Amino acid sequence: MEKTQAYIDTHKDRFLDELLDLLRIPSVSADPEHKTDVSRCADSVRARLVEAGLEKVEVCPTAGHPIVYGEKIIDPSKPTVLTYGHYDVQPADPLELWTSPPFEPVVKDGLIIARGSADDKGQFYMHVKAIEAMLKNDTLPCNVKFMIEGEEEVGSENLGTFVKNNKEKLKADVVLISDTAMIANDTPSINTGLRGLSYMEVEVTGPNRDLHSGVYGGAVANPINVLCELITSLHDEAYRVNIAGFYDDVVELSDAERKALAEAPFNEKAYMEDLGIDAVWGEKGYTTEERCTIRPTLDVNGIWGGYTGEGAKTVLPSKASAKISMRLVPDQKSQKITKLFAEHFQKIAPPCVKVKVTALHGGEAVVTPADSVAYKAASKAMEETFGKAPIPTRGGGSIPIVALFEQELGIKTILFGFGLDSDKIHSPNEHFGVFNFMQGIRAIPRFFAHFAAMSNGRA
Ligand code: BES
Ligand code: MN
Ligand code: MN
Repeated sequence: MEKTQAYIDTHKDRFLDELLDLLRIPSVSADPEHKTDVSRCADSVRARLVEAGLEKVEVCPTAGHPIVYGEKIIDPSKPTVLTYGHYDVQPADPLELWTSPPFEPVVKDGLIIARGSADDKGQFYMHVKAIEAMLKNDTLPCNVKFMIEGEEEVGSENLGTFVKNNKEKLKADVVLISDTAMIANDTPSINTGLRGLSYMEVEVTGPNRDLHSGVYGGAVANPINVLCELITSLHDEAYRVNIAGFYDDVVELSDAERKALAEAPFNEKAYMEDLGIDAVWGEKGYTTEERCTIRPTLDVNGIWGGYTGEGAKTVLPSKASAKISMRLVPDQKSQKITKLFAEHFQKIAPPCVKVKVTALHGGEAVVTPADSVAYKAASKAMEETFGKAPIPTRGGGSIPIVALFEQELGIKTILFGFGLDSDKIHSPNEHFGVFNFMQGIRAIPRFFAHFAAMSNGRA
């Protein structure tokens, strides 16, 4: 292990330079204009896996963006770790709010500033470099498989088919993913859960054309006004989601579980200050941390309609639309919630408008055990790397593929994330600490060593 760790420290600058090269490729999966950049990024990831010493490396085409696969089987009788990550990134807009261009990475005050630095290029690249370090020093203690996809930020639509069609190839004892955050650099933590997602689009149509708001206003329902009323009605006075049946399958945590989660340090004042808000908001009866981890939510992500150009145009629009996401918790099922929402929204629409509801994508919530061999190995690895045992916490984001791995391959995941909530993922000026990048590279070989030693093939 010392050899491997010394190698990592010696090659630190090169590791960082290589990551910066990867960050220069604008692999925005949502934007068709970036399709060739996304495939160029896949090719670059492929080359990196080969350089690291992985074998059978290939770019696997899908109906959408490609998946990069690679493996190193040192002994089929030994356990296998399946590393998952994503090389696609979120769109970078609004561009004017970046202090440096999103795809021209800079390292400033110990932070790597670029779109994708924390989510997820910087984090999956830690694994590539950790494997390189183990292979170059002959210390890889078990088998490893890599699957790095290019559609995570758009709902991993084609990954399900890939997993179903490649069960044998992907066979492993545990999935290892670095795509989440810790509490703080001096307070390591491991996520033991993620929320699910139902993402909807609604369209409200009133009159068959845009109308003069003086000639018709007052007599014809305005779809924007109606949409706002409908959206407002989706929460009750206690800020609970006001859809019948929405909470039916929600697993309520015991007082002991809530108490354990509350032990993670959290400073509400600093939280508000960081966000520039004077008060927090949310479901009555739950703390801020609970509201964004173990409780389900409903949020409007975007809303549009009517005239939004400069100056005034007196118009009563024909249509109004919104994108609405619901974050789900165990045991809510995405399909059921999607159906409940669609039916509810149709039902509450007044006769003066027509509504169309479309489901965009979904994913299931997961909880991962904190007493498995793999969790213990991850916990020890973090403790050795940070000098402090990590705290188990629940995460609020979604990685739909985690439930799919469980369902299709029967394997549990370790969410071995080294980011911070303050990394501004999905926002302007996304960044990832050089410290975090290096700690991840240092911790991963330790995980492999403990996992191989403890598991005897069992996760
Ligand atoms: N890495 C995030 C998920 C995440 C972030 C989990 C922080 C926990 C803490 C991932 O790339 C992501 O953004 N997922 C999407 C879901 C997807 C279906 C678009 C999300 O959570 O919105
Ligand atoms: Mn991610
Ligand atoms: Mn993301």
